Amino acid sequence: MSKGYPEVRLRRLRRTSSLRDMFAMPTPEPSKFIWPVFLVEGEGRKEAIESMPGQYRFSVDELVKALKDVVAIGVKSVLLFGQTEKEDSKDECGHCACDPNGVVQRAIPVLKSAYPSLIVFTDVCLCAYTSHGHCGPRDVDGSVDNDAACDMLARVAVSHAKAGADGVAPSAMMDGQIAAIRAALDEEGFSNTILISYSTKFASQMYGPFRDAENSAPGEGDRQGYQASYRDLNTALRESEFDEQEGSDALMVKPALFYLDLIRTISKSTLLPVMAYNVSGEYSMIHAAAEKGYCDLYATARESLYAIFRAGATQVISYWAPFYKEIFS
Ligand code: PBG
Ligand code: ZN
Repeated sequence: MSKGYPEVRLRRLRRTSSLRDMFAMPTPEPSKFIWPVFLVEGEGRKEAIESMPGQYRFSVDELVKALKDVVAIGVKSVLLFGQTEKEDSKDECGHCACDPNGVVQRAIPVLKSAYPSLIVFTDVCLCAYTSHGHCGPRDVDGSVDNDAACDMLARVAVSHAKAGADGVAPSAMMDGQIAAIRAALDEEGFSNTILISYSTKFASQMYGPFRDAENSAPGEGDRQGYQASYRDLNTALRESEFDEQEGSDALMVKPALFYLDLIRTISKSTLLPVMAYNVSGEYSMIHAAAEKGYCDLYATARESLYAIFRAGATQVISYWAPFYKEIFS
C-alpha cells in the first residue's frame, strides 16, 4: 500500500511550470472547436451583438472575411444559425426555414467555395421562423405538435443538405426527430450527411443572450414542454439513449457548464462522440464578470473549457473558438 503524507507529497508534481506542463492533460486542439455564427441577409453587415461581446450578426460576405483569421488558427468548423428578419414571412409552421433562398441555404455554398476544407454544420430548428417563436407548430391546446414539428424539421434538414451542409444539427427536442430526419435525408440521397443530435438539451436560463442575437424568444410561454428538465436526470439521459438508437452520428449535452455530470455520464455509456454546447449565457457571464473586474477574461474562459473537456466532451461548440489563441497560449 502506498504511503501518505509526509512520505507522499503531491506538490512535487506541480513544483515548476515545466512539471505542471508535463503532468497536464493535453491542451484541447483548435480542431475540436466548432464556432456558432449568426447569419443575416444582405451584404456588408457585421453587427455587434450587445449581449454577447465579441460576437456579431454577419451577412455571408462579412462572415467569409471574419473566417480568414479563425481558419488560420486551426478552427475547422462552424455551426450556422439563420433567421428571417421579415416578420410577415413567419407563420405557424415556420415554412420559410426551408426556403432555398434563406440565409443559411445561400451561405453554405459561398462558405464552401471560400474555404473548401471548412466543416459546415447547420442548426435545424423552427423558432427563428415561426410567428410565435416556438420550435414547432402549435397544437389546438397551445402545446407544440411533436409529429408535425418532426415533418417540418426533416424538410429543413433536407434543404440544408441540398445546399451542401456537411452535417445538420436539430435542436428542437422533439421525440423522434432524429429518425424522421435520417429517413428524409436518406430518401433524398443524402446518406453522407452527418446528423448531430442536440440530444440532451435542457430548458435553461443560459440561452438568454442567444435569443436576443437570434430574435427567437417565444412570444408566449417557455420551452419546458419540450426541452429536458434539469430536475429529471434519468429522462435527460434517456434523451441521448433514444437519439443514439434513432441513428444520430453524435450526441450533445447543452448547456455545458451546469451539466458536466451529464457529459461525464453519457460519455461513459456511449461510443459516439459527445459534443458539448458551451452556450451563450455561459460565454456572456464570463464576459460580464471580467468586465466587473471579478476575474480575468481569457484565464476564466480557459478554466471553463478545460472543465468541459475534462468531463469527457469530445468536441465543443463554443463562442470562444475565434479566441483560441488568446485563451490557450
Ligand atoms: C434554437 C436554439 C437555441 C440555442 C441553440 N439553438 C435557443 C433555444 O433553444 O431557446 C441556444 C444556443 C445558445 O444559447 O448559445 N432551438
Ligand atoms: Zn428552436
